[in-house]
Amino acid sequence: MKAAVTVHSKYTISDIDPRLYGSFIEHLGRAVYTGIYEPDHPTADENGMRRDVIDLVRKLKVPIVRYPGGNFVSAYNWEDGIGPKESRPVRLDLAWHTSESNQVGIHEFAEWCAAVDTEMMLAVNLGSRGLDEARNFLEYVNHPGGSVWSDKRRANGRAEPWGVKVWCLGNEMDGPWQIGHKTADEYGRLAHETAKAMRAFDSSLELVVCGSSNAHMPTYPEWEATVLDHTYNEVDYISLHMYFENRAKNTANYLARSIELDNYIGTVAGVIAYVKAKKRSDKSVYISFDEWNVWYHSKERDKETLAGAHGWPHAPALLEDDYNFEDVLQVGCILNTFINRADVVKIACLAQLVNVIAPIMTVPGGPAWRQTIFYPSYFASAYGRGTALKLHVDSPTYRVEGLGDVPYLDVSAVHDTDQKAVTFFIVNRHGTETLDLNVRLIDFGALTIVDDQVLAHSDINATNTAERPDNVVPRKGDGAVASDGRLGARIPPLSYRMIRLR
Ligand code: AHR
Repeated sequence: MKAAVTVHSKYTISDIDPRLYGSFIEHLGRAVYTGIYEPDHPTADENGMRRDVIDLVRKLKVPIVRYPGGNFVSAYNWEDGIGPKESRPVRLDLAWHTSESNQVGIHEFAEWCAAVDTEMMLAVNLGSRGLDEARNFLEYVNHPGGSVWSDKRRANGRAEPWGVKVWCLGNEMDGPWQIGHKTADEYGRLAHETAKAMRAFDSSLELVVCGSSNAHMPTYPEWEATVLDHTYNEVDYISLHMYFENRAKNTANYLARSIELDNYIGTVAGVIAYVKAKKRSDKSVYISFDEWNVWYHSKERDKETLAGAHGWPHAPALLEDDYNFEDVLQVGCILNTFINRADVVKIACLAQLVNVIAPIMTVPGGPAWRQTIFYPSYFASAYGRGTALKLHVDSPTYRVEGLGDVPYLDVSAVHDTDQKAVTFFIVNRHGTETLDLNVRLIDFGALTIVDDQVLAHSDINATNTAERPDNVVPRKGDGAVASDGRLGARIPPLSYRMIRLR
């Protein structure tokens, strides 16, 4: 089966915001406790943070991490997480039916972010709380001193403000499951007033308003139109979320779902354009796709805990999806979609980062290891920075009900003009046939292959485990040839490949 791609150095989509490779840590399950934080662990640093996890997160080069939720934030009192640890209250977390010890709060998280070399993206509680708590939290985090909340921060051991730029105005407020769920009008008004107050403190903040929790919400896409109508002039991003599942065990349909993602982004970009025109505004609003991942493997397992059958456990195993090889391909297609939509998607957060639907897993007291999906995330984050190139793709297709003709070849390309490198991220969606790929490169000068990595496996259900962490790992690709403005490569059925030219 043959596929062809044409790419020209001047034919671009957009510069890629590095925050496209962001992630997310929520106070949920073992993400924080025994995930990033485990004071008794042999690798724990002076703050109780696991150094083995820090090392793996650093490898992923995560530029920004959203915190502290998620559904958790909608009933969270941020003040519970400051001050002496021994006097912090234990609270019932209504979102996940667990207990929250508050041993990790904003100070501990900020120190961890410094250790992994990432920026914080903080969410305020617009579910059970509102504007007043949001402005106090902002003052605590970002004001140098001389006011009640900034002086409390100083008294708690942090003299310098953290200067957090990106703030989320609540989480999934369209969802009936959300504590403090609101209609679009109720939320739009609250988000507008909260944003106005936050901007009165600092007009340069980047504010994210909640869009839809998924494209199947009954209020989608009217929610976006109404919420933006209230908030357009005060916000910079509208947040979207999407999770992928393959309960039907239909690989072809599963891998086609990135087309649905693309349509979702396209629709919301259209709504943004509509509101912009309606407001006669010069200002642009972009998409922060701040929760995305595969999430379905653990859902059955979690039902009892979420229904309260185990009481209010502290840091139980929740949402611990065991990712398989098929999910590598899905994550590869999702990341390609974000790169190909880099003109409208500026921030995206892989949900989540450690233990909870995560690329990194830990054993309490034991090792940290990489799930299968670690690898496409790593390749995109490490080599997908620069300018997204517009591709002309000519690929055979297959038909999927509701999504139309889906190309077997899924591909994105990034031009790093500093390094003079072009990187292709390639997925072959075909179950049995190799793709004979021919790329024509125009106006890039002489290029040779400097890296070629393949993820392929004979079993799409293959997983990595703590005992066998290297079952699904990249290996060096072979047989690709680059010369005279051409790249030729054979892409095995159901495989992911990254080819970097310079
Ligand atoms: O990431 C897990 C959960 O998914 C988040 O808490 C919520 O925002 C979403 O529904």
